[in-house]
Amino acid sequence: MDFQPHVMSQANASETNNNAWTIGRLINWTNQYLTENGSESARLDTEILLAKVLGCERIMLYTRFDEDPGDQVRATFRNLVKERAAGCPVAYLVGHKEFFSLKFKVTKDTLIPRPDTEEAVQAILDLAKSKQADTSTIADIGTGSGILAITLAKELQHSQFVASDISEAALSVAQENAHFHDVADRIQFRSGDLCNPLEGETFDVIVSNPPYVSDNELAQCSPDVKDYEPLQALVSGPTGMEIYQRLIPEAKPLLNPSGWLVLETSPMLASGLKQLLEEYGYQSVNIKRDHTGNPRIVLGQV
Ligand SMILES: C[S@@+](CC[C@H](N)C(=O)[O-])C[C@H]1O[C@@H](n2cnc3c(N)ncnc32)[C@H](O)[C@@H]1O
Repeated sequence: MDFQPHVMSQANASETNNNAWTIGRLINWTNQYLTENGSESARLDTEILLAKVLGCERIMLYTRFDEDPGDQVRATFRNLVKERAAGCPVAYLVGHKEFFSLKFKVTKDTLIPRPDTEEAVQAILDLAKSKQADTSTIADIGTGSGILAITLAKELQHSQFVASDISEAALSVAQENAHFHDVADRIQFRSGDLCNPLEGETFDVIVSNPPYVSDNELAQCSPDVKDYEPLQALVSGPTGMEIYQRLIPEAKPLLNPSGWLVLETSPMLASGLKQLLEEYGYQSVNIKRDHTGNPRIVLGQV
């Protein structure tokens, strides 16, 4: 891979002599290169990486198509494109990802936020709006980059939060994100295994997007997931249900009367999870679908 004119000259000498490596040409060339290297979102990847290197918003690239960005920018961009072509997710290369229209720092210690998880936020906002839930106190277990607690804190200005994770490294990213979004004064960050950091307290809502990939499923995950994202954030065990099997009974005594447990899951596990919640005596158990129509959120009330 090389954005140097001599590469192009082999294909079309006369055009090369007339054309510099402008932003427009870099985008077109890289789009094709990443497509050939397996990216399903090559154009978007290209634009996000180039905007990062240029230090501008992606939309501004369209006003700079004829600009020659210079050797330094091209060299930095080339290195990022190489890493992307090797499989590294764009979010890790640029260090952030959007969730619920907010920008979150991510590192290789945190899962990359998924659009599916926005449905967990929406489910809790719906419960609050319909007055089916008090949302004064909310716990987010396995907070990762902090997206659930922080987004809810932005939306529910009077709520207090505890956000926990077993990974200290993830918690420090979550804390940075909370400061960035100006909600750190309402979120306590705690480290520990599942409900242990919450012992002795009760909450109106407990939300969690825990690891739910089974050992076998991991082998089928794409390389940009299994080779880059933290396994501790992904994998639950042989069936995918192991964390839920511990979390569901542990969370019950930590919920206030009429409190809700809100869990993200995979479409394959949703009905088993509903059954598990019912077996442990949760009421009004229901499943919500994500933006693609798949069962995604399972919630139950004590
Ligand atoms: C699927 S990620 C979700 C991260 C974030 N909530 C999100 O939705 O993007 C699961 C998170 O749970 C954490 N985790 C895994 N096992 C845990 C455990 N036993 N106790 C607490 N947190 C755990 C991982 O470190 C990871 O941050």
